[in-house]
Amino acid sequence: MSRDGDVKFTAKLGDREHFPDLEPLVYCNHAAISPPSWPVRRAMQNAIVDWGRRGAQAFGTYGAQRSRLREKLARLVGASAEEIAFVPNTSTGVTAIALSLPWKRGDRVILFEGEFPANVTPWRRAAELFGLEAVFLPLADFQESDERGLGRLTEELAKGARLVAVSAVQFRSGLRMPIGEMAALCHAQGAELFVDGIQATGAVPVDVRALGVDYWASGGHKWLMGPEGTGMLYVRKERIEALDPHVAGWLSHEDAVRFLLEGPGHMRYDRPFKKRADVFEVGCINAIGLVGLEAAVDLVAELGVAEIFTHVVRWGDVVEEGLVERGFKSLRAPEVKRRSGILSVLPPEDVDVVALHRALLQRGISTAIPDGVLRLSPHWPNNVDEAEQVILSAEDALAELRGAPRPRSDDW
Ligand SMILES: Cc1ncc(COP(=O)(O)O)c(C=O)c1O
Repeated sequence: MSRDGDVKFTAKLGDREHFPDLEPLVYCNHAAISPPSWPVRRAMQNAIVDWGRRGAQAFGTYGAQRSRLREKLARLVGASAEEIAFVPNTSTGVTAIALSLPWKRGDRVILFEGEFPANVTPWRRAAELFGLEAVFLPLADFQESDERGLGRLTEELAKGARLVAVSAVQFRSGLRMPIGEMAALCHAQGAELFVDGIQATGAVPVDVRALGVDYWASGGHKWLMGPEGTGMLYVRKERIEALDPHVAGWLSHEDAVRFLLEGPGHMRYDRPFKKRADVFEVGCINAIGLVGLEAAVDLVAELGVAEIFTHVVRWGDVVEEGLVERGFKSLRAPEVKRRSGILSVLPPEDVDVVALHRALLQRGISTAIPDGVLRLSPHWPNNVDEAEQVILSAEDALAELRGAPRPRSDDW
């Protein structure tokens, strides 16, 4: 629950009371960007008013707030607080690790064809800088079955690899990857597993320790429902020692702020780097955004990630059935353990997905079309009763669009 002075905010699954001015009738686009709830907005407004009043005197208050949030995020993903760093987005978390691993020339990194680019570009950059070999495996194998995907990964790992980088949930298909099994295979071959967790954190149960994940990066603006410019990076504590923080700044050092508080004689440039994940918090960070993230995390934690997951899968079940009946092809995995908050579908072949996306928005249904699929991503405020609205809107949009020309991009 979030607190606003004496006001206590509670949330209910399927109730969008905390989004009083959200324009779309059905907002199922949380896999893109979540709108900030009222408690998030209030918390951020209060914080900025406080900073406005107190200036630098507010620093301590928000330092304490961040310690609290670090604990909460750690609890949410099964980590300890020292293993969590705040990052402004997923990409910064990926980059921190990609540049700080003790690479040897010729080390191999296994990536996946079809991953969101945030989990590719930093590794390719590291490959250029450190002389690594980046190898791509097809995601299609995992789409077919765990056995096939894991079999292919096993073959590739047997050739030697330093690291595997994958998303916990695929942004396009919504496929939840077998992360625990992948981590075990990596470790058996002396490799580490990096996970881009942004499409999972907050709506899919996660326990990084139990899964054996080495690194987990997640922006805060999707399933955590915080503002953009916030996020977290988990670094398994056993991995910290070996990292050489090539991304470092004045706050990466132990006792970094002593010289600002304790008089002369404390300013040194050679203080050791922190042996915690927060070594990657290199300078002042998004204080107001992290206040918003805490309010968002409080709501998610209060509802429970397992309960949210069951809720969004049920929403997906009903909508999927209605859309398939109307000629859509579902990309959702048949097994619940491979599902996520994402329901992606392909429209009937004679209907253009860009035009359909637009037609749905005109009918008050907010979706996304990443890499050409129609993606619906409900979260805790969505109600299963919305399914009828979504399905009938899709039916109506199909009727309008059949044979209609594709809209030009400047029509937006
Ligand atoms: C799998 C995945 N990773 C990362 C991102 C975003 O990365 P960042 O938080 O760096 O903007 C997205 C979507 O925007 C995504 O779907």
